[in-house]
Amino acid sequence: MSGKERRHWDLRYATEEPRAKPSRLLTPLGRLLPRRGRALDVAGGSGRNAIWLAKRGLDVTIADISRKGLAMARRRARDAGVRIRTVALDLDAHAPPRGPWDLILVFHWLRRRVWKRLPALLRPGGVLVACQATVRNLDRHGRPHRRHLLREGEMAALFPPLEVLALSEGWSKDGKHDALFAGRLGALRKRPSNPPPEEIDDPSSRVSGNRTRSSSAGSARTAADTSRIRVCRRTHARHVP
Ligand SMILES: C[S@@+](CC[C@H](N)C(=O)[O-])C[C@H]1O[C@@H](n2cnc3c(N)ncnc32)[C@H](O)[C@@H]1O
Repeated sequence: MSGKERRHWDLRYATEEPRAKPSRLLTPLGRLLPRRGRALDVAGGSGRNAIWLAKRGLDVTIADISRKGLAMARRRARDAGVRIRTVALDLDAHAPPRGPWDLILVFHWLRRRVWKRLPALLRPGGVLVACQATVRNLDRHGRPHRRHLLREGEMAALFPPLEVLALSEGWSKDGKHDALFAGRLGALRKRPSNPPPEEIDDPSSRVSGNRTRSSSAGSARTAADTSRIRVCRRTHARHVP
């Protein structure tokens, strides 16, 4: 299975030129992300997000099954004037590189079994960002296959140990129906008595008919506590075309 997977991705990286710009869903989260320390990009491929993080000052490692993808990432990093580390690794068969990490990213590679292990690799105060298309994507696109897609609303419950910093789901400018999560290990001890002014408590809020929900930093909730989602309209605006 994994040999097949490796060949599949090596062939894709040998014949396609993946986007070099970082994800449009990642960059708006910049203020939530550390600028120093160690970052791991899980299944980070040709490095579009890793290079952006390295430019911001992080010591970034990409773990990915495809040597071709990793070679492209190193080349692109050199061209961009930054250094990244790469580890060729089948994450279905082997544990992710050892932490602690100050930041972990996992974009567009869904393995619930692996995702579950990621919070334990964070340093206290470390941040995890995950992004994955949902089954709603099939309304407009044939790929990825359903087995690579999250159920609607599923993202909110996938990282229970983490304090939620951002959570949204909707059609992105790239035309995909993506779920995005950012969370921090080591919850704040106190729930603030007054929410910041731009936030409202309204779990049923929708923007442009999209089933998009977001939350922002500052509450003591965990990802599993979805009963009172705070909605940050600014984050919606970024995530919904
Ligand atoms: C859709 S691409 C996403 C790449 C990158 N995260 C991004 O958003 O640009 C999926 C990536 O997962 C990697 N991958 C697939 N199966 C893997 C496995 N078993 N272990 C590690 N990486 C894997 C592929 O090589 C590919 O780079």
